[in-house]
Amino acid sequence: MKKILVTGGLGYIGSHTVLELIEQNYEVIIADDLSNSEESVLERINDVCGIKPEWYNVDLSDTNKCNDFLKNQKFDGIIHFAAFKAVGESVKNPLKYYRNNLLSLINVMSYLKTHNHCAFIFSSSCTVYGQAENLPITENSEIKTAESPYGNTKQICEEILKESSAAYDLKSIALRYFNPIGAHPSGKIGELPIGVPQNLVPFITQSAAGILGALNVYGNDYPTHDGTAIRDYIHVVDLAQAHIIALERLLNNKNASPIEIFNIGTGKGSSVLEVIKAFEKASGEKLDYKITGRREGDITSAYADTTRAKEILKWESKKTLEDALKDAWRWQKKLGQENSD
Ligand code: UD1
Repeated sequence: MKKILVTGGLGYIGSHTVLELIEQNYEVIIADDLSNSEESVLERINDVCGIKPEWYNVDLSDTNKCNDFLKNQKFDGIIHFAAFKAVGESVKNPLKYYRNNLLSLINVMSYLKTHNHCAFIFSSSCTVYGQAENLPITENSEIKTAESPYGNTKQICEEILKESSAAYDLKSIALRYFNPIGAHPSGKIGELPIGVPQNLVPFITQSAAGILGALNVYGNDYPTHDGTAIRDYIHVVDLAQAHIIALERLLNNKNASPIEIFNIGTGKGSSVLEVIKAFEKASGEKLDYKITGRREGDITSAYADTTRAKEILKWESKKTLEDALKDAWRWQKKLGQENSD
């Protein structure tokens, strides 16, 4: 059994990836300091697949603690999710973001320096492209000056990864995710947003559940077919599966270079109004929304060119926007039931 460390494995994308790994017969070790997750996710994973993975509560940005944790371990692969991801918070407190996101990557990669057979997958983001000149966005699109400290940490982390992978002859892949949404179809794991969600789909499901008021649609004056902004929404289970395929490419030494980069999206752009319509269809609920001004820092349109992932990884998304919204809604209702029990 291959042993895989998943950092941030109790978080949103991490927990779905842990589940896929267990289902593909990997031994999973989780390192997660609960800074944006809950211990109860272990039970939820167990509930779906009958295995409760081993978990260590460790802050990987603390060099001594990270070294202590890693020093006697023998991992075949590491999937590194552990990072802060709230754009607005990163603008208010940039040092918190630089310290955490950069140091945890550096500390984990110090292990790879002496264990360079170990496969490494890094969570990157389409945020590195900003507003691209041409759509769909290929991996060769220009990396623009980041719009936020959060976005900058992803760009800097990619640089650290590229230079270190070349210098230490590593086996690494960076996956640039577009907009992950949805939840596991079992309704047993999903996103646990803390406070008022900033992202579109968790806001929609909480608004439909009556927890929040009307959804604000941020701007209908964008140069798009209906005036609202366009994103590439990918089901979190499709995204989790992309990690397993990327990992296996490295474990089987199929990678063409020490670092490879792939866009992970559906290739299809949807506007905010289209997401609202698709949600109403998927859930049977009417959504209360109003058009407001644009949100600062938002771009007009982003969707992936997925050719490279299709041709090289042999991966493509399978689930539709409606599948993802159905699953997000099932998860929201399950959370509501749990809270009322
Ligand atoms: C955001 C982050 C991005 C991060 C991603 C993770 C910003 C600027 N970008 O992407 O870096 O990688 O989350 O998932 O925050 N919208 C509304 N009303 C809402 C919320 C959102 O109309 O209440 C609109 C937004 O204007 C946008 C779309 O919905 O057009 C998607 O927004 P969101 O889910 O926050 O994702 P991004 O902004 O694309």
